[in-house]
Amino acid sequence: MNVGLSKMYVDDQIQKVVFNVLNSGRYINGQNLKSFEEEFADLCSTEYAVGVSSGTSAILLSLMALGIGKGDEVIVPSLTFIATATPAKFLGAALVYADIDPETYTIDPAEVQRKITPRTKAIVPVHLYGHACDMDPINELARAHELYVIEDACQAHCATYKGKKTGSLGDIACFSFFPSKNMTVLGDGGMITTNDSELAQKVGMLRNHGRTQKYVHEMLGLNCRLSEVHAAIGREQLKHLTGWNERRRAIAAKYDVLLRGSGVIIPMEREWAKHVYHMYVIRVKQRDKLASYLKGKGVETGIHYPVPVHRQPCLMSDVHLPITEKYVDEILSLPMHPQLTDAEVEYVASEIGKFIEASL
Ligand SMILES: Cc1ncc(COP(=O)(O)O)c(C=O)c1O
Repeated sequence: MNVGLSKMYVDDQIQKVVFNVLNSGRYINGQNLKSFEEEFADLCSTEYAVGVSSGTSAILLSLMALGIGKGDEVIVPSLTFIATATPAKFLGAALVYADIDPETYTIDPAEVQRKITPRTKAIVPVHLYGHACDMDPINELARAHELYVIEDACQAHCATYKGKKTGSLGDIACFSFFPSKNMTVLGDGGMITTNDSELAQKVGMLRNHGRTQKYVHEMLGLNCRLSEVHAAIGREQLKHLTGWNERRRAIAAKYDVLLRGSGVIIPMEREWAKHVYHMYVIRVKQRDKLASYLKGKGVETGIHYPVPVHRQPCLMSDVHLPITEKYVDEILSLPMHPQLTDAEVEYVASEIGKFIEASL
């Protein structure tokens, strides 16, 4: 059996809407973008959504709109994709790393509190693997210290925290539609959500050369637009998202049952969270051996992430984050996508069981 880590969804309807855009002659800033933004804002229960070219540009433009730059400090987790952190660095801000909660792997609010200084301007909590961060204490700290909260929701489309959707939990939030995400535009794309009209207007201008009129540029901007083709695909994918997330949760529940007590540590879902399992990540001491054993059995796995951000060559820091540094050697992402069959989940779990038994 061959079981892939993730799989994208393409159907006739998606092909049809792509052709419709190609035949329309309107490829940028058209009706698909406008509708996608409205539908995505609706999904997140936010006032505004602004389509952009990637999750990375969503984070960059959000920081720019908040005026973050030289002299500022931005608190980030280190167990994340590097793009959580690089935009702040590009803008001249200093990165301050906070360790993670040992059970949810998301940024630990107590660590955030310890890392706040008079220069701190923003916190970027990452809803890692599809599990929301503990936002109440983070927002309380932000209020007390006058900090901005920028949600990195790139892995958490439609997850919830205490019944509220990710994307609506901070000042501004960033989503990615990279191909492996819970929903994708089958290329690069992203979205910014917020309830702040001024911020929405600013990021809308920043993504489009800092303008509202064709040749009048009121601020320095960039070209970080989301194309009509990608917006049209995003709208179709959005229609499936709720069902796909439910299937991901059912697959996770099946893995949980099959792997509980097997010797690997399974992911947890806090009582206040609705996890959307962008990744199903286990922890195991012999991670590399298990990964190569599974590869030999046709099972693709991943490591998200093998090198924490603070140990990346371009961002090397001597800060010590004990939990993050321990976990990067133990985490293993198992196949997880809505098209995975029950038989495939059973096969993966049984191979893990065989490996653990043989290594006892
Ligand atoms: C947590 C996190 N932040 C940021 C990004 C960047 O998104 P993109 O690849 O769309 O630029 C990703 C996606 O890869 C991500 O997983």
